[in-house]
Amino acid sequence: MRIAIVGASGAVGLEIIKILQERKFKVSSLVCFGSSRSAGKSILYKKESIKIRQLRKSSLKDFDIVFFSAGSSVSKKYAPIAASNNCYVIDNSSAFRLNKDNSLIIPEINSNDLKKYKSKIIANPNCTTIISLMAIKPLHELSSIKRIVATSFQSVSGAGNVGITELISETKRFLNGKRKARNSVFERRIAFNAIPKIGGITRNLYSEEEMKLHNESRKILSDNKILISATTVRVPIVRSHSISLNIEFNKDVPLAKARKALNGFAGIKNININDPMEYPTPLDSSNKDNCLIGRLRKDYSVKHGLSLWVVGDQIRKGAALNAVQIAECLQKK
Ligand SMILES: NC(=O)c1ccc[n+]([C@@H]2O[C@H](COP(=O)([O-])OP(=O)(O)OC[C@H]3O[C@@H](n4cnc5c(N)ncnc54)[C@H](OP(=O)(O)O)[C@@H]3O)[C@@H](O)[C@H]2O)c1
Repeated sequence: MRIAIVGASGAVGLEIIKILQERKFKVSSLVCFGSSRSAGKSILYKKESIKIRQLRKSSLKDFDIVFFSAGSSVSKKYAPIAASNNCYVIDNSSAFRLNKDNSLIIPEINSNDLKKYKSKIIANPNCTTIISLMAIKPLHELSSIKRIVATSFQSVSGAGNVGITELISETKRFLNGKRKARNSVFERRIAFNAIPKIGGITRNLYSEEEMKLHNESRKILSDNKILISATTVRVPIVRSHSISLNIEFNKDVPLAKARKALNGFAGIKNININDPMEYPTPLDSSNKDNCLIGRLRKDYSVKHGLSLWVVGDQIRKGAALNAVQIAECLQKK
């Protein structure tokens, strides 16, 4: 397949290139695009050095699939051009996720939706949504879900490569006794801190990130009755997001059944869900494809409830891996 990546030098773009190689995706040609900042720099693909080209409106033709990972404004401007040139677009931004013509896909959960939507622009869900739903979906199959309370602990690389740079520089400054923060990526100092707001605040006082989890989950699960209250928090971790989930069901879900359903779900790995002393941390899931689950227990604060903890590499399953898996579905079509 003739592949292009817009935003190839970014955290997600570089990971897409890595995963295409790891999964031996059939690539007949690969073209990398960026802004004027990265144009001319080289990226290594299968020992071949590929020069990044500056993205222009005329660039996006003669491809089978174009991956977009350069933010919403770039996707809004250029993805429709690629689609009008008969390319499939797999978009990592939030630009098209809730549009009625665009599918929003997690291949393990709703790959059938690829047939339902007419647009050639396919949206990759938000990273926290993907990782949360990897744990929620197998349980949703056991009983319909009434309500979810989700609290996320999101790593700095969720804000791109600049997030990692700021965590490292702010940590060094703090350890060197410089108490005045010099933050520009995050709203407050991220070193030795936690920031309970990701994205802007919406009219209902939830953050944009929290509303993504609410709205995207309903679309992916095709269930507009689920109530979701989320709190999303940025924490000083380099990679992998963690989410604490309290799920209230409409009928009882015994622990044994929940364990079995989670263990049998593709893309989920339980370190040892029967042993309460075993639990996954973000370091355990970093650079891994599977989402990991632990701390599964009854939520005694409601009639039919479960509580659990899920971690996943948000650059991989939360973005690049999920995007390549969508491309694999298109390849099979
Ligand atoms: N990081 C994550 O964990 C994650 C997870 C899920 C989804 N996403 C989404 O994926 C997208 C990319 O995120 P990221 O974390 O990879 O960001 P990033 O590390 O900041 O990389 C952004 C990329 O976009 C390119 N770019 C910026 N402006 C451009 C323009 N005008 N034309 C062409 N290329 C341009 C940059 O190239 P230059 O160097 O040339 O500017 C860079 O390659 C975002 O929409 C983000 O919300 C990220």
